[in-house]
Amino acid sequence: MSDSVMDPLLLTLEPQEFQLFRDLIHRQTGIWLRDGKQVMLASRLSRRLRCHRISNFADYYHYVQHCQDGGRELGEMINCVTTNKTAFFREQHHFQFLGDVVVPGALARSSRAPDRPALRIWSAASSTGEEPYSIAITLLESQLRNSLFRGWDLRIVASDIDTAVLGTATRGIYPVEELEEMDPALWKKYFLRGKDDLAGSVKVKKQVAALVEFRRINLMDHSWPLSESFDAIFFRNALIYFRQETQDLFLRRMIRHLKPQGYLFLGHSEHIPWLHDVLEPLQKTVYRLRSRA
Ligand SMILES: C[S@@+](CC[C@H](N)C(=O)[O-])C[C@H]1O[C@@H](n2cnc3c(N)ncnc32)[C@H](O)[C@@H]1O
Repeated sequence: MSDSVMDPLLLTLEPQEFQLFRDLIHRQTGIWLRDGKQVMLASRLSRRLRCHRISNFADYYHYVQHCQDGGRELGEMINCVTTNKTAFFREQHHFQFLGDVVVPGALARSSRAPDRPALRIWSAASSTGEEPYSIAITLLESQLRNSLFRGWDLRIVASDIDTAVLGTATRGIYPVEELEEMDPALWKKYFLRGKDDLAGSVKVKKQVAALVEFRRINLMDHSWPLSESFDAIFFRNALIYFRQETQDLFLRRMIRHLKPQGYLFLGHSEHIPWLHDVLEPLQKTVYRLRSRA
């Protein structure tokens, strides 16, 4: 740290500093920042330099690696570099598929289940929560339409590496504008309008929140705190931040958490042709685990 603190906004990340941060971020998160991302990274990291009154990136690099804070600053740095864009019912066709194919398939198999039938879904890069709450609403709507689905044990595990977005997700409070694209009948049923301090906001109702359990999972960690198998995994709009070897690593590990014939949902621009021998492409960015021979 230095006494003469400059405005970090004016700092540029030198090429060798960019390489150092890029490697650190890659080791910790799997995220690969390609050449040309220097300005974006400098701008995002500047917030951390300002917070600690550190005047240059080389000092911050040393600080983030050696400060004795139990990994707190490293976590804050990771929160700065993730991209968290999401929306309720983003890529609507996936939620249609969930209600029209995944739920009826589970119902058809349930006659063979000895106990209370259960449906498990994992939203593996859940960001601020819009995705897992959209899944929960879809399942609740399916219960209203189909009496055989009522009484099912439903659980959505929603995880992300970023502790800040998980905080927002757990609170379940959003600007009302986020619901503009949603069917008004749905949002009246599943959201409460905020008053006083929360005017202009909406909050997900308890019955929706009760289905979702948020956990911090860094997919780069050697073990994931998951004991259950899932009927479906939503891993959407995250693959694009990883190189193919990391994509392959994550997906092959995820597949082990799918039930037989379980489904994988990817984002609109994400394709995995090298895995088609294990994951059968069904329709746009929806895959089903193939039965083992
Ligand atoms: C663009 S958001 C996708 C949100 C949502 N799935 C959607 O499609 O709307 C990508 C998310 O991936 C998360 N992410 C990036 N690297 C990760 C990692 N190593 N482990 C877990 N989550 C990660 C980011 O924090 C970010 O919230």
